[in-house]
Amino acid sequence: MGMPCYNFTVELVHRGKVRDVYADGPDELILVATDRVSVYDVVLPTPIPDKGRLLTALSLWWFEQLAAVVRNHVISADDVPAEFAGRAIRCRRLSMVPVECVARGYLAGSGWSAYASSGSVCGVVLPAGLVEGDRLPEPIFTPTTKTPPEQGHDEPMTFADVTALVGAERAGELRDTTLRLYEAAGKITSDRGLVLADTKFEFGLWPDGLTLADEALTSDSSRYWRAEDWTPGRRQIGYDKQYLRDWASDLGSWDKTPPGPVIPPEVVDETRRRYVALYERITGTAWS
Ligand SMILES: Nc1ncnc2c1ncn2[C@@H]1O[C@H](COP(=O)(O)OP(=O)(O)OP(=O)(O)O)[C@@H](O)[C@H]1O
Ligand SMILES: [Mg+2]
Repeated sequence: MGMPCYNFTVELVHRGKVRDVYADGPDELILVATDRVSVYDVVLPTPIPDKGRLLTALSLWWFEQLAAVVRNHVISADDVPAEFAGRAIRCRRLSMVPVECVARGYLAGSGWSAYASSGSVCGVVLPAGLVEGDRLPEPIFTPTTKTPPEQGHDEPMTFADVTALVGAERAGELRDTTLRLYEAAGKITSDRGLVLADTKFEFGLWPDGLTLADEALTSDSSRYWRAEDWTPGRRQIGYDKQYLRDWASDLGSWDKTPPGPVIPPEVVDETRRRYVALYERITGTAWS
């Protein structure tokens, strides 16, 4: 599908749950964030106003903060088709490493479930006696497969699985870079009174060196808690995306398969308010 935009034509190459990806020539992509929201991998029928712009702005802010740790795929946030302005990033088209690189400093979500049933997460053995929401002795690398949505959910990988897939040197580089990014981001969030419980990065190769791609530290890819709310021993109060997950899960009537439930207006408003608050708290800039 071609779409004429000023003097060039971009082509839709991929439609994710929440983002649309356009190619502009062979070497560049335009990642467009929409206002769609997904919960438990299901896109809900109700959009969250401004979400695409908020997450794009937050991702750009983080790419800039973390540029000293590893180079990233961003070319420009301005040189994009007018209809996507504010919610699109022009980036280098990379050959993507087929691993979702997750760092965890706290036990939550699937990490907590895995620990509760096996005492380890992605092959990393953890001390006994940890409770939900606990801080880990040190951050750990808990990668998953990058499974296309039509083929099911991302599955946990051990470090040995990653090594088998990409080789020992690249696997080590992925783990080290992921943990360095998590550490750098965690310092920034803790200065702002936030706990960065876990986050997911994706990397590509350009032309052969590791490059941070996709989105960075948005609430779609990360779990943020307010430091003052953090209380180990229970499910944590999520800062934004978790709010919607909890709402959907507490409905009780939804089996987490499509179609997802319509979000009532007050829950849309509260969700948007949380995205704005997160953006403002992290960047220190008022949302306009
Ligand atoms: N610089 C890049 N070069 C090539 N591909 C990229 C780059 N940055 C991100 N991608 C890929 O673009 C796609 C973005 O799609 P998106 O994340 O919206 O949907 P998805 O990953 O298919 O599904 P989900 O909604 O579960 O995330 C991903 O496959 C991601 O790996
Ligand atoms: Mg994705």
